[in-house]
Amino acid sequence: MAKKLWEKNIDVNPEIERFTVGRDRELDLLLARYDVLGSIAHSAMLNNIGILTDSETSDLHNELRNIYGIIKNGKFIIEEGVEDVHSQVELLLTRKLGDTGKKIHSGRSRNDQVLVDLKLFTRHELQNICKAVIGLFDALQRQSEKNKDVLMPGYTHLQVAMPSSFGLWFGAYAESLADDMLFLQAAYKMCNRNPLGSAAGYGSSFPLNRTMTTELLGFDSMNYNVVYAQMGRGKSEKNVAFALASVAGTLAKMAFDACMFNSQNFGFVKLPAECTTGSSIMPHKKNPDVFEIMRAKCNRLQALPMDITMVMNNLPSGYFRDLQVIKELFLPAFADIKDCLSMATYIIERIEVNKEILNDSRYDAMFSVEEVNRLATEGMPFRDAYKKVGLDIEAGAFTPNKDVHHTHEGSIGNPCNEEIRKIMYGIYEAMDFNKARSAEQALLNE
Ligand code: ARG
Repeated sequence: MAKKLWEKNIDVNPEIERFTVGRDRELDLLLARYDVLGSIAHSAMLNNIGILTDSETSDLHNELRNIYGIIKNGKFIIEEGVEDVHSQVELLLTRKLGDTGKKIHSGRSRNDQVLVDLKLFTRHELQNICKAVIGLFDALQRQSEKNKDVLMPGYTHLQVAMPSSFGLWFGAYAESLADDMLFLQAAYKMCNRNPLGSAAGYGSSFPLNRTMTTELLGFDSMNYNVVYAQMGRGKSEKNVAFALASVAGTLAKMAFDACMFNSQNFGFVKLPAECTTGSSIMPHKKNPDVFEIMRAKCNRLQALPMDITMVMNNLPSGYFRDLQVIKELFLPAFADIKDCLSMATYIIERIEVNKEILNDSRYDAMFSVEEVNRLATEGMPFRDAYKKVGLDIEAGAFTPNKDVHHTHEGSIGNPCNEEIRKIMYGIYEAMDFNKARSAEQALLNE
């Protein structure tokens, strides 16, 4: 049986094949279950428009659900000589069902097949990432509330600046994630439109029922214009990459803070011992490698939108094989960000804060503005108060009053965690994950 969908009567040069197939046989495994879901929907639609009979359709559906089971058990492989997941699934169907298997590709192309696979894969992964972001957000907010009144130094230029609090520090990263969630929501919504039926990028002379596959696959709507549907290859990945990069930016900054504040020279936080690593020569070391790896991975993720751009830049409309290479950059990114999110959540839940930092006189000067403001409240013009306190500090005559009273929104005593929570959950809950899940379950008869 021919292993290439396009095999006719010329032998393929094996080197050319190796080069053009690239890493598809390995990476397409991540798309396999979505390829099956797309095929169930596509064949149901072919039945609806009279291209497949009821019995052909039910044979295909049974076999596709079998294949789904094999994928779920980790037993699915793309055989030697088979180009990609689309070819492998069709090969399995044809081996089992003969001519019925050969009919499934009516009215579609691997171009819209890989588009729909990527959309379904990404939709699923984005759901997981949103949930993981919420997990970290909740952990940060809990720490913020718990340490609302525990003071720490705030820095500008890495110079001791003004009083801050652990409540603000943790809470700031929670609020940052709420903005990142907006990107995730936009990416999810853009991703949740059906490209199936665009075929090679120009539609089909079969009277495809695209509304039907859109509903069966639980998409919000479709990419209507078939030319645009194909243009979504690369664009969709890039938009998702921007969202991942936004989350990665938050994590990378937090990781740097955590490494720095954990250093003996700061001693503001302490990582649980089980979350640190040792040195082969220095017996005392408890290193924050986990945050360092996280920082590096997240910095690399921030380059992802640009990496994708570099592959697809200046391509005109229509399909090109260049687009295949994007999978090498895009597909592994999800495991990386999920790993980083779960590590971050685990540690943030367990990190200990040092409640005694401000007993150290090296931080005394950070209360200077509190004193200036006190004098200004009593009526001294701000500039005069600023000068007096500055001179007092120079003369060694400044005694800090460490009893701070900040009241405005988002300040030390009032971090507004509840307001931030409303923003975050408003964005998160506007994404309807259940619709996608129940559509997929229905296709699988689950
Ligand atoms: N592996 C291909 C990709 O990812 C699938 C589509 C192949 N289409 C084609 N016209 N050669 O783009």
